[in-house]
Amino acid sequence: MQIKTVGVLGCGLMGAGVAQVSAASGYRTMVREVNQGVLDKGLGRIRKFLEDGVAKGKVTAEQRDQALDRITGTTEFGAMKDCDLIVEAIVENVEVKTAAYAALEAVVGAGTIFASNTSSLCITELAARTKRPDRFGGLHFFNPVPLMKLVEVIRALTTSDETYRALFAFSQSIGKEPITAPDKPGFIVNRLLVPYLLDAIRCYERGLGTIEDIDKGMKLGCGYPMGPLTLLDFVGLDTTYYIANIMFDEYKDAMFAAPPLLKRMVLAGKLGKKSGEGFYKYA
Ligand code: 3HC
Repeated sequence: MQIKTVGVLGCGLMGAGVAQVSAASGYRTMVREVNQGVLDKGLGRIRKFLEDGVAKGKVTAEQRDQALDRITGTTEFGAMKDCDLIVEAIVENVEVKTAAYAALEAVVGAGTIFASNTSSLCITELAARTKRPDRFGGLHFFNPVPLMKLVEVIRALTTSDETYRALFAFSQSIGKEPITAPDKPGFIVNRLLVPYLLDAIRCYERGLGTIEDIDKGMKLGCGYPMGPLTLLDFVGLDTTYYIANIMFDEYKDAMFAAPPLLKRMVLAGKLGKKSGEGFYKYA
């Protein structure tokens, strides 16, 4: 099937990134948010990223303008009616996602493919909540979406071969490197990353080193772009806690158990960069 128009549900950190790369790759892109204020914030994020790209010499002014021209923001589901593919990047809540899929199914054509960017929910469960379980899959992007090359393509039990191939080809067409991941909590990357991040917190709790030294160790000793505690602040402690709990619930393995400090930091509102403080303080 040919994808010409892409819809993105949600213009938060991930949705904005997906909309940006989709538009930058030549797709007419519709992005929907719940209200004008949130939408304007998300569109502003896209504009700023592209402008920073121009300032850094990575994007030309023409590419910036073309990408922005291809994006239409909306607060209406009805505006997504001509989309061939809709990537959903909204709150990680099955009921809220189900309601959004139902609203979309009332307006889109039978062939439209839905893909969820969920990092933790079961793709098969989400697919089963729609009338198109064969035209549903997972497309898991990484933050910051415009810079991270990877996309995990996840097949639900019900995803058709045609849908899977279309999602894989779409990922390549927006300049990403897709890999095929199983519909199991954490897929491939978070299955490996989350235990590492949780272990870094446990090590810090047990006095292995200072926050700075743990980060410096992994950054300079192993060549990781960020140390684990910096990465936790970047991903969000609440997000990590949420994913860890889902993984623990499914696998019942202690390596996914949230360390007490993580829970307490979340309860205290120390969520990382987004709240101004996590393991580090942000101005
Ligand atoms: N437009 C275009 N290019 C840009 C840009 C922009 N606005 N901003 C930066 N870039 C380019 C830079 O020019 C640079 O390119 P170069 O390598 O060719 O010189 C490159 O992007 C890196 O940018 P910076 O030098 O400004 O920044 P850093 O080198 O500090 O890298 C980072 C920033 C890419 C975020 C890096 O620190 C990193 O990779 N961190 C790890 C991020 C990570 O692990 N993400 C995954 C989180 S897990 C997840 O998302 C899954 C979820 O389910 C939890």
